[in-house]
Amino acid sequence: MMHQTIKRDGVETIGDPYLSLEGINKKYGLVEVISNLNLEVRKGELIALLGPSGCGKTTTLRMIAGLISPSAGKITVEGRDVTQIAPHGRDMGLVFQSYALFPHMTVAKNVAFGLEMRGLSRADIASKVAKALAMVQLGHLAERKPRELSGGQQQRVALARALVIEPSILLLDEPLSNLDAKLRDEMRTQIRDIQQQLGITTVFVTHDQVEALSMCDRIVVMKGGLIEQVGTPHEIYERPATPFVASFVGRTNRVKGRRMADGFIRIGSSTIRSTKPAGQDDVVVMVRPHRIHIDWNAASTEQPGETANQTAAVLSRITFVGDVIQYHFDVDGSEFIVEESTKKSQASHRQRDKAVLSWSVEDTLVFGADQ
Ligand SMILES: Nc1ncnc2c1ncn2[C@@H]1O[C@H](COP(=O)(O)OP(=O)(O)OP(=O)(O)O)[C@@H](O)[C@H]1O
Ligand SMILES: [Mg+2]
Repeated sequence: MMHQTIKRDGVETIGDPYLSLEGINKKYGLVEVISNLNLEVRKGELIALLGPSGCGKTTTLRMIAGLISPSAGKITVEGRDVTQIAPHGRDMGLVFQSYALFPHMTVAKNVAFGLEMRGLSRADIASKVAKALAMVQLGHLAERKPRELSGGQQQRVALARALVIEPSILLLDEPLSNLDAKLRDEMRTQIRDIQQQLGITTVFVTHDQVEALSMCDRIVVMKGGLIEQVGTPHEIYERPATPFVASFVGRTNRVKGRRMADGFIRIGSSTIRSTKPAGQDDVVVMVRPHRIHIDWNAASTEQPGETANQTAAVLSRITFVGDVIQYHFDVDGSEFIVEESTKKSQASHRQRDKAVLSWSVEDTLVFGADQ
């Protein structure tokens, strides 16, 4: 069995994977929707499958649950091959993207169902159901039917129903998509707390990068049935492996450049550095908007140190977005957006104002133009 290294709070631990997907392929007819997917999840880990609509997140989750079979490949739990095992033999709790509650049963009965199937006593069932419903703040609606609930309430019943059986693996398919912003925030914290308290290995499907970054130990970024990158939120954000990851997770500026023989990169009339090795090629340069510093004193002749890049820019537009102000700059025909907190940006600036933009070499992400 392969070992994997996971950094948690800066401490590296090595362990066997708890859930592992090896060489998974899924075809519908002739169309391949998942291609050679390999993934290892450690015990107690919360891992996000993150990617745009149609990239194969639900398909992957349903294969883990055993609801659909892979066309090729193997799924193991603690080294046991479960690829051919039926869903109920896998000890997994699942929250579907479409909740799939039993319409004729009350909320309490929906949540109790899995426990009844396992033959628990009535007293045990009642107390576990009450606890699970309290966890999702639905104790007061225990006697309602699903059709008498809002979408967000149904979603929470589905979550309680999955948690109540204390599964060894929890599979969540966009479990917060129908909640309002405030409730979603609360539920994120709650799911994370419950998951950590019970130590449940969890695969969490989402297309919301904030959710993935804020809740998960690691993120799997998917695109078109392929894994683009697997890493901690910090790695995915600070060291995106591809331009797709850089622009899907967090906002970023993207400009074309050319790497010269001396290793420096030309963007417009400016020359900048990156930490990546040299090579002469067309490249794409990406910098996060809030990592750029604006010096409005454009006459400044101060040269950047070894660790900073800079370029002259002309202000073209200002957008107010609540907490932040976005300054849109023209840099030799390319647009650079810089974000500053509203509080910091008190001075008034106008179109065509000149400035010097600077950012650290560390924050300069460079990719091949064909990536
Ligand atoms: N039963 C099916 N038959 C044929 N194609 C399917 C079937 N189910 C899914 N697909 C296709 O497989 C691809 C992946 O679908 P999947 O539901 O896994 O996407 P997803 O990442 O969960 O997207 P979303 O964020 O919209 O839920 C899509 O292109 C979809 O059209
Ligand atoms: Mg889906």
